[in-house]
Amino acid sequence: MKNLYRPIESVIEDIKKETHNITTYRFRPKEPISFKAGQFVELTVPGVGEAPFTPSSNPAVTETMEITIMRVGCVTEALEKMKVGDTVGIRGPYGNAYNLEDFDDKNIVIVGGGVGLAPLRSLILALFENVEKYKRISIRYGARTPMDIVYADALPEWEKYPNVDVHLTIDEPYPGWQGTVGVVTVLLEDLPLLTTANVDDLPFTVENAVACVCGPPIMLKFVNMALLEKGFDPNQIYHSMERNMSCGLGKCGHCMMGEYYICKDGAVMTAAQVAKFEDPF
Ligand SMILES: Cc1cc2nc3c(=O)[nH]c(=O)nc-3n(C[C@H](O)[C@H](O)[C@H](O)COP(=O)(O)OP(=O)(O)OC[C@H]3O[C@@H](n4cnc5c(N)ncnc54)[C@H](O)[C@@H]3O)c2cc1C
Ligand code: FES
Repeated sequence: MKNLYRPIESVIEDIKKETHNITTYRFRPKEPISFKAGQFVELTVPGVGEAPFTPSSNPAVTETMEITIMRVGCVTEALEKMKVGDTVGIRGPYGNAYNLEDFDDKNIVIVGGGVGLAPLRSLILALFENVEKYKRISIRYGARTPMDIVYADALPEWEKYPNVDVHLTIDEPYPGWQGTVGVVTVLLEDLPLLTTANVDDLPFTVENAVACVCGPPIMLKFVNMALLEKGFDPNQIYHSMERNMSCGLGKCGHCMMGEYYICKDGAVMTAAQVAKFEDPF
């Protein structure tokens, strides 16, 4: 049986700078690591420490794993100093995953903020594996400035699928930027509140939709409010709850929120699950 505590030695195979403080690393673990979209891993930088991250690569690929990481502190700074050929440890996967069977034939709205698009990328790539199963996949992404946009070269490729659209916004006007300006909730304004089912000539029906959200806590709060206002049921909204985690295994209690261990009951949780907490995000 697999020992989930044991970090698997993983060699850094590729390093791609996304922005000034966000980098995508491709790791090649000594043993394949299987995960489902939404699950996370603990990454160890030897001699420094470990931190939780959600893979950003396609879950169908187990020989390598990509993780997109923002430099914020100890582990992420140490990782940024590492080079191709260096070794880290990866243990996991942990936590729950998106139940993709529930997404069949639905409008899927994916809302990311900043590096929050990274965990959603593995979901997006998993959905693309069977893209025809979904009515529409609508990706709404907000970054601080044009230079803070991650996967800038992949976004136009994603839009080539007939039932996929990608909308971007940046927080404030920026020289040369001709797209939308404003926080990511401005990209939700066009989601119509429709109550009639089976309206095929309209792009979107809320009652046949799910929303998957990942980003900084303040963004989750306002996106949650906006989606509820648009008529989403709290059971249709999935948040990535990236709260304080340590062991990742339900042992240390760092991640507890009421009766939930976010590392085991999450990190993907519905707005319905977290609604009773005063400040869930
Ligand atoms: C389930 C889960 C999935 C995650 N997935 C990703 C991912 O895919 N990509 C990614 O970049 N991060 C992700 N994170 C966040 C990541 O775990 C933290 O950024 C990381 O633990 C920071 O470790 P560190 O040692 O570098 O920083 P630390 O030394 O622990 O922290 C340094 C300082 O940075 C602050 N800080 C910590 N995290 C953040 C943050 N996210 N944003 C802003 N300030 C912060 C701390 O409050 C502290 O002041 C995820 C977290 C969880 C729980
Ligand atoms: S992170 Fe230790 S119990 Fe959840």
